[in-house]
Amino acid sequence: MIVTIDGPSGAGKSSVSRELARRLGFRFLDTGAMYRAIALAVMQQGVDWQDRADVEAIASAARLELTDDQVLLNGRDVSHKIRRPEVTAAIHHVADNPYIRGLMVDLQQRLASCGATVTEGRDQGTVAFPQAECKIFLTASALERARRRVADLQARGLHAELDDVLAQQAERDHRDMTRAVGRLMQTEEMIELVTDGLTPEEVVDRLEEIVRARMAELHLAPAKQLPTET
Ligand code: DC
Repeated sequence: MIVTIDGPSGAGKSSVSRELARRLGFRFLDTGAMYRAIALAVMQQGVDWQDRADVEAIASAARLELTDDQVLLNGRDVSHKIRRPEVTAAIHHVADNPYIRGLMVDLQQRLASCGATVTEGRDQGTVAFPQAECKIFLTASALERARRRVADLQARGLHAELDDVLAQQAERDHRDMTRAVGRLMQTEEMIELVTDGLTPEEVVDRLEEIVRARMAELHLAPAKQLPTET
């Protein structure tokens, strides 16, 4: 079974999707981390973003390994480095590149073919796994998302002004929703979950309910056990 969770930046997708996968015993794919790792690889090589052929060559040579809580780039743990603001600022060069998106989608499909998977990103239910059994669109208001981003940066010892974060977020939303390939899109079949005012645990509870209901519908899990007669 494939569960896709798409939505804009700051909706809290990664942490709740990871926890959802853990509860279900599914594999977890953080596809944003893949784009981040490729951006970091290019930055580490000091290649100019305008040198498209070089950027694409680095992307195809990069060896990405994803465990449930680590991202390895060519054998090195880059889980923290890929979250740095300078990587976030450069990522659009990678995410807007159709060739690199193709490489990432291939990798996502290969990883998910190994078993039941929860995957989160922008294009998971539309491009990577259009056949997914359960598609969710996770979102929150712009202000709530920006507040969460500020708190998240603060927790990592980084200072950010709310207004700046709001402006950067609006730019990222626009890019995510208008890129030529793999744009963020909410389709009719996606179940929308708006997370304003919900704690992460409440969001995971709700997600788990949605997925388990879908599994029961598809007979992928045993239906609720009937009380045995005495
Ligand atoms: O979810 P995130 O912030 O870690 O994602 C990082 C960037 O990668 C974000 O700007 C959008 C892009 N991305 C994408 O284009 N497609 C995905 N499936 C996942 C992320």
